[in-house]
Amino acid sequence: MRRPTLVTLALVCLAGCPAEEEPTASFPPVLGVEAAEDLDPADGVVEYALTAGESRVELVDGERTDMWTFNGTSPGPLLQARVGDTMRVTVTNDLDEPTTVHWHGLRIDVAMDGVVHGDLPAIAPGESFTYEFVVPDAGTFWYHPHVRSHIQVEAGLYGPLIVHERDEDRPDVDADRLFVLDDILVDDDGEIAGHATNHPTQMHGRSGNVLLVNGSDGDTRVEIAPEGVERWRLVNTANARTMTLRFEDLEVREIGADGGLWPQTFTRSIDELTLPVGARAELEVRLADAADRGRMDQIVLALDAGGNVVEQAVEQIDVRLDDDQEVSAATGHTADPTEPLAPASDGAEIDHPLVFQAYQGVDGVVWTINDRAWPDAYEWQADLGAMQTIELRNLAGPEHPFHLHGQMFRVVSRDGEPVDEPGARDTVLVGGLETVVIESDFSNPGMWMAHCHILEHAELGMMSLVEVR
Ligand code: C2O
Ligand code: CU
Ligand code: CU
Repeated sequence: MRRPTLVTLALVCLAGCPAEEEPTASFPPVLGVEAAEDLDPADGVVEYALTAGESRVELVDGERTDMWTFNGTSPGPLLQARVGDTMRVTVTNDLDEPTTVHWHGLRIDVAMDGVVHGDLPAIAPGESFTYEFVVPDAGTFWYHPHVRSHIQVEAGLYGPLIVHERDEDRPDVDADRLFVLDDILVDDDGEIAGHATNHPTQMHGRSGNVLLVNGSDGDTRVEIAPEGVERWRLVNTANARTMTLRFEDLEVREIGADGGLWPQTFTRSIDELTLPVGARAELEVRLADAADRGRMDQIVLALDAGGNVVEQAVEQIDVRLDDDQEVSAATGHTADPTEPLAPASDGAEIDHPLVFQAYQGVDGVVWTINDRAWPDAYEWQADLGAMQTIELRNLAGPEHPFHLHGQMFRVVSRDGEPVDEPGARDTVLVGGLETVVIESDFSNPGMWMAHCHILEHAELGMMSLVEVR
């Protein structure tokens, strides 16, 4: 965690800010991923520089691996802002191929969304582009390229982005921690395996053989004060792996999702969490009564000696009581910070039906939305500012984490049954042969991507465009 020191503040001011102008106050500390330095001292503006390039990174067992990184690390640096700030990020492309940066979950101007379609260009090798936008929602987001994402994200190009709440809405916790979860496929030489085009990968996306937390495969040790309470932010940046997380000897409340913290009445105790690709979760975490140790495991499927598929728990976060710390007086998440979207309608009428299907093409599997595959994409229209329902119908076996750019939605039902999946979201998992209804107020005009976030499915066609007007 890097925080501005007196020395760097002084230097910034020597370089030109008027004596009476106060530099932006430092952000509340977030542990887990090193924060980028805000290059603009003015209040209400944050400025960052990202360079996409190749680096050798310490990854598995301290071995070094060739990766593609932002500013030399994977995950890239934590970018932070306060809700309502203007954010300016200059991205320089030091790769040998075009790239972009997409700000996953931010409801910003479509020209700054980092996508490539219509007349929106990519950043050519050797070039730079400055993204500038206002961040309208507090929450945990992430950034990644939107060009050949299945290759570029897999190679390491992704990073977290936090928009902090107003001070009075921030939970009172002992620590605010970020856990960026990924899995990668590493070959016998410890290098990122080349992209496979086999049938299982086309059907299910690429699952890896190494699970990462904040770019490391070792488990993460957390020391917690007696009666301590922490805020954890989880981000799933994997190409395809839906993560099932299980909590042992921890008391966990789910307090938020993609679109930030939920009002108190929506929060609930959990001992397991499903985190689809692209999605985020916010948790309030305590040690269980009388426990001096707790864990967060990821549950994966493995083969036992008899060749049967069994669940295996991979320990990812190890929480230990630290008796040397003072007893915590933190109260946790008590504010009611977000305006929930208007309550779900009864879902009787579907405004936008989307059907997910696959067929076998000459070059392999093609994934479609309403029978169309990108770049010959299905295009649909939504009315700006009106609550509308979208039906996501999956006619095939593999699951699809559906992601809508530039908007937030809420989940209404699964196979006709109302669900309890509160809060504003930008990503929802649609299981095999399942039908999920969501609704959105389409608050942000423009031509937006709406696609599956299994990056191999997206690459094989599963992307549509919605025009909001
Ligand atoms: Cu995470 Cu289309 O993006
Ligand atoms: Cu997105
Ligand atoms: Cu999919």
